[in-house]
Order: sequence, then structure tokens, then C-alpha cells
Amino acid sequence: MKNTDACLHVRGESVFIDDRLVPEGTLYAAVLSSPVPHAKIIEFDISKAKSVEGVEGIFTADDIPGVNQIGNIIKDEVLFADEEVHYIGQPIAIVVSKSDVISHKTINEIKIEFVKFTPVFDPRESYKKGQLITPTRTFSLGDVDNEWKKCDLLIEGTVESGGQEHIYMETQGALAYPSEDGTIKIISSTQAPTAVQRIAANVLGLPMNKIEVDVLRIGGGFGGKEDQAVPWAVMTALASFKLKKPVKLVLHRKEDIIMTGKRHSYSSDYKMGLSKGGKILAYEVTFYQNAGAAADLSTAIMERSLFHATNSYYIPNAKITCISCKTNLPPNTAFRGFGAPQALFVMESAIYKAADKLGINPSVLQEKNLIKDGDEFTYGMILKNSTARKCWQTAEKHYSIEKLYKDVKEFNSKNKIFKKGISMMPICFGISFTNTMLNQASALVHVYTDGSVSVSTAAVEMGQGVNTKIRQVASEVFSININRIRVESTNTSRVSNTSPTAASTGADLNGGATRIACMNILERLKNFVSDKHKNQNLKTVEIMDEVVYLNGKKTGLKWDELINEAYTNRISLSAQAHYATPDIYFDKKKEKGEPFAYHVFGVAVTEVTLDCLKGIYEIDSVKIVHDAGKSFNRLIDLGQMEGGVVQGIGWATIEELMYAKDGKLLTDSFSTYKIPDIYFAPFEIKVHFLENKNTQVGIFNSKAIGEPPFLYGIGTYFALTKAMKEFRPDLKEKFSIPLTPEKVLLALYEKP
Ligand code: MTE
Ligand code: HPA
Ligand code: MOS
Repeated sequence: MKNTDACLHVRGESVFIDDRLVPEGTLYAAVLSSPVPHAKIIEFDISKAKSVEGVEGIFTADDIPGVNQIGNIIKDEVLFADEEVHYIGQPIAIVVSKSDVISHKTINEIKIEFVKFTPVFDPRESYKKGQLITPTRTFSLGDVDNEWKKCDLLIEGTVESGGQEHIYMETQGALAYPSEDGTIKIISSTQAPTAVQRIAANVLGLPMNKIEVDVLRIGGGFGGKEDQAVPWAVMTALASFKLKKPVKLVLHRKEDIIMTGKRHSYSSDYKMGLSKGGKILAYEVTFYQNAGAAADLSTAIMERSLFHATNSYYIPNAKITCISCKTNLPPNTAFRGFGAPQALFVMESAIYKAADKLGINPSVLQEKNLIKDGDEFTYGMILKNSTARKCWQTAEKHYSIEKLYKDVKEFNSKNKIFKKGISMMPICFGISFTNTMLNQASALVHVYTDGSVSVSTAAVEMGQGVNTKIRQVASEVFSININRIRVESTNTSRVSNTSPTAASTGADLNGGATRIACMNILERLKNFVSDKHKNQNLKTVEIMDEVVYLNGKKTGLKWDELINEAYTNRISLSAQAHYATPDIYFDKKKEKGEPFAYHVFGVAVTEVTLDCLKGIYEIDSVKIVHDAGKSFNRLIDLGQMEGGVVQGIGWATIEELMYAKDGKLLTDSFSTYKIPDIYFAPFEIKVHFLENKNTQVGIFNSKAIGEPPFLYGIGTYFALTKAMKEFRPDLKEKFSIPLTPEKVLLALYEKP
């Protein structure tokens, strides 16, 4: 079935923050943010700004009744800068007035002066200065130091990957209303309603039950609203609390790009040792993560880089280190893949280089080292139900890889200016929040007397189709038409203590809770029917396709009649349920455990054509075999695959963040920051879902789909590098993402 939101989206009827009808008297906030990367504030004067016609309030750190602290994992981030600023775009104050225009104009009337300090933007430099976000962590398996001497081939290198701007369609924003008794309701574009609620409560000095957060849907998050929807929501809550009026704040696109954090850029050093036969015997890597000016989610992202550093390979001796470095950039944050893409790119770069040394295709090394059942990950988990090899073999057959290589070879031999390249990109992604605690969710289900059903969960609909999947769960458990079921907004008063909708776990966790709640109601309904037929030798009661069956025989009793009767007999038609992923744990002292419910595998075959005169390229095709378990909703899963792949390709190729020397972001608009459009997207994306219906994994035997496809985008980098090498056999690969056409051209004609 279709994503049930599709019709609303296409008609423009979906309601995002800026589409809401606001109450009379709503005020508009605009943010004054730092124009300098690191400085002390020595003068701050709002007297002129305050007297501007229409301005109702200006709020700074001094106006906070609770604490000026919004750090989530580590308490190292203020809502408003007080004495010092640490990055360009750091909020200092908000102006609240009758209109968005007045508020934005008035920002310029605030007088502010700084004494500048020397900023640091490079993670290795900040590491040398000892400016770390958190102590460094290392995962290890076997003994690399002992293994090097047993290796026939040793390679070393440095790998760079750039950041990435989220470009969710709906910019960050929130709307807060005061209610009676000092309570506030916040409508927020967030993936984490409870984080907004908790932090707003702390900043306002209120208990959490005085803050209600509601999220109907968000116009994309991609991780960018897991932590970073908080400041804007809290600012509206603060102003609304102080002024006792509704306050709205929606960032303009440019403000959003400048003020919010991005995917972390990484700079990494690796060493790899192989046997003559191409077995990877040892791998050591150090990731320097550019965290920006505060922790945000960096520590969790660092953890996922550690988990996924060996991708889908078994490497018996490995030492993986991640260093989270503090720099004067906006705090970097979650972005689809959550540290895994950066780690996988280093692994694949090492394999490419090793293959180059051995004079073989990287795919030979990739295949030889694929992880299988019984192999151990660096974090101690023994792999079960691996489909890494099955995906690989299916891809080879399904997409006639041998012929593909032959065709490309022939093309390249016939063309001087145009060159083609192909790559294989296997992936492995662990499903569950790496922080075990977060792997829980709740649902609240009501059946109304007309037989219609209302479901509330912790899941936030951000375009990924989780609401449709939740409807499918309720429809399946009750065996009723999906049109009877509505999924409500995500609301902290209805469903409490929500984990963010992230880590691709939305459907597994919230679908899991919904399933239990529906089963509880179903059980009561069945018992009710059994009791009614107490003395009639009744063995089974079932509901199938909205009709009650007794002892396997169809009755005349329909769903809505049953519900009505149950209500009349005072049977509860509501249930609340909680789901927690079973059997996962992680011991941070030993850095060992079983942190994931399961792993997602797959492989992508990418073919590109490079114009070696201009450096521009086309992505001919990305052909994927992907293990989605028993795909829960093929159309939605296909959409996630395609969107993820294209977003991953954008990161690997054209999305380039460029900064001036003083740290000012130069690519702060769509004219300078290019994301893939329909012309740039692969000409063809083929997805073959692996037939894998037997393993018990996620909700209804499906596997989470949200983030893993992003990783396939890395394959485009290697396909392009292959094509470049065809044109210039002495090419010096730089292993640096993004590989923009400009960089391609420079590398093709670089003096030897
Ligand atoms: N798809 C759309 N359309 N919009 C989004 O913001 N976010 C991605 C992915 N797919 C996103 C998306 C990210 S980062 C995650 S973690 C998952 O969706 C979250 O949703 P899920 O857990 O329900 O898969
Ligand atoms: N993935 C995504 N988001 C998260 C995670 C994770 O493992 N942990 C905390 N937030
Ligand atoms: Mo996704 S980066 O876990 O929101």
C-alpha cells in the first residue's frame, strides 16, 4: 500500500509549523547570532532595539528563569551565549515583535562588541591543543601490534570526509502557547519531543508536566532535528512564558544553514595488513571527529563510528580509535548514518588502496573478507543470520556483474574522453540505538464506539512513512480495514518519555508497542465474546476481515457491532503498552556486548560515466541487493532506498561545505551548496529486496530501512575513482569526500 500521507503532500495539505493558523496576537521571534567564531562579548546594548515600534520583548541569557543549559548528553551548551561566543551562528538573543519582518530588522539595532580570540577549525589542531569533547575511546579485537609482522602487505593512508547540510524541506521552527497556571504548549518540528519538553522545563525552571510538546509531522529531519530542534522550541517557550502570548519562530533557510550543525567531517589515519591471498589480517584506524563547539550527539556518533569501522568484513585483529575534537564551528549533529558513513569510507579507501597495490579489483578483496555467521565484531558480538554473502552473490547473478565489467572495459577501450567506472559497495548497519536505554517506546490505543481506532506513539512522522507502518500494525492485529485507523500527532501528554525517532528504529519500537496495545484490546474483546457464549462449548474466537468467527465459523457479528456491544457491557476499549528491545546490552568498560537487535546487509553496484575533458560525470546506475527482511511496505521501503542512496551520493560527490578563513560558511544557500536534483540523481536505481523471510528480526520480520541505504552512496566515489584511473593510470587518489567535478578535473590534469 501507499504511504497514506502521499495524497496530503501532493495536494499541499499536510500541515507543517509554518502552515498552522496561529491564534490572534501571535508574536514572532528572530535570533541574533554571533558573527564571529570565538570572542568575548564586551558590550551589549539593546536600548535602541527595545524602542522599535512593534517590539514586545528582547530576551538574553539574563532572562532565563531556570538554567541556561541545553546540552543533552553532556551539559556543555548554553541556550544564549552569555560572556563568550564559540561559533559563527551561536544564538545570543531573540527579538520578539508583532511581525517576522520587524523582528529581523530590529536584530540590527542591537549593539554588540567583541574582543576576538583565535579560533580553531581543524580537528587535528584542536586535538594537539587537548581540546576534546570527551575522553577518547578504542575498540579492539585480537592483537594488531603482533599481527603486522605476519602480514605480506602493509598499507597506510589518510582519508578525509566533509560535512553535510541536512536540507530538510521544513526549516527548524516552533510555536509556543501559554495556557493557564504557567503551563506551555509547544508545537515543534522535532524528532525528539521529550528532549524539547525536558530541556524547555529546565530552562524555564518548571517541572516537565507543565510543558506539553506536540508534533503532527515534520518536513524531514534526517537527524538534524534529533537534538537541534531544541533551541528554537525553547526560545519560543521562554518568550511565550514571559510575555503570556503565543510566539512563533521559524528560521529562514539561510539562518538555518548558518546556525545549525551538520554531519561531522572526519579526518582519519589508517593502517591495514593483508596476507598474500588477500585476507585482511589487521586494521588500525584513528578517526578525528570534528565535533564543533559543543558535544551535542558527538559522543553517540563517535560510538557508531567505532561499531561500524570494519563495515561488513571480518577482520580478526582490529584497533579502532575515535577522538572527538572541539572546534569553533556550530555543534555538529546526527545525520542519516550517524558516524557510520565516515567510518565505512575509510575502510573502503583502505581496501581500494590495497587492491591497487596488489593489482586486482577491490571487489576481490571485498568478497574475500565478507563477514559470516560465527564471526566476531570488534565489539564482541557474534554474527548470526548474516546475509552479507548472500546479498553479494545475488547481486553478481541478478545484475550479471561479469558482463557489466566486460562492457565497461570495452567502452573504455573505445573512448578517449569518456570513461566509465564501476564499484561494488557492500554495507553493514546495526539496528538499535547504541545507547541501550533508548531502545524503548510506548503506544496508546483507543477504539471508539463506531469502531474507528486512534493510535498515539512516540514516533515522529518525518516523511519516512512510520505512521503508515503503524497503521498497518493495528490493521493487521485487529484484522480491520486500514482506513479505520488514524495515527495521531506525537504528544508528550499522551505518550511520555519518548526516545527520539532515530537510529532507524521508529517502526520496530513504536510498531512493537502498538502491536502489544492492540493485542491487549483484542484479548479483552475475545474474552468478552467467550463469556457471552460461556456454556456453548466454544474453543476459538477470532476476528478476520472485520467479522467475528466462533470455532472457525463465520458469524454475523461485525467489528463495529462487536465494539458497540463491548462498550455497552463496560469493557475497556483503550490500552497503553510499552515495548523494549529484548536481549541487547553493552558494557562500556570492556567495550563489548550485543548492542544491536540485528544487522542490515546489502550491496550496491554503481556505474558512472566521466567526461574527462570537463570533469563532470553522470551516474548511470545504482543496482542494489538489499536485505530488508520481509519488507513491511514495499513502496515506502523503496522510497527510503532511493532517497537514502541519492542523499549518500550527494555527500560523496557534490555537497561541499566551504568556509572562509575566519570560519564564515560561504555555502549558505542553494546557489552555492548543491544537493542532488533529479538531473544529477542516478539515471537508474534498481532495488532487489533479498528474499529473507525466515529470520525473526524487526516488526513482523521486517528490517529497519531508514539509514542503511545512505551508505550505498559511497560506492559512487569509488566508481568515479575507477573511471578517473582509466583516463589517467598514474592518478594520485586523494581519498577525500566530496569528489566534486572541480576536484576531478584538477586531479585529472594535475602535474605529476
Ligand atoms: N526519510 C524521510 N523522508 N525524511 C527523513 O527525515 N530521516 C532518516 C530516515 N529516512 C528521514 C527519512 C533518518 S536519519 C532516520 S534515523 C530514519 O528515517 C528515522 O525514521 P525511522 O526510524 O522510522 O526509520
Ligand atoms: N543512532 C541514531 N541516533 C541516536 C543514536 C544512535 O545509535 N543514539 C542516540 N541517538
Ligand atoms: Mo537518524 S541520523 O538516526 O535521525
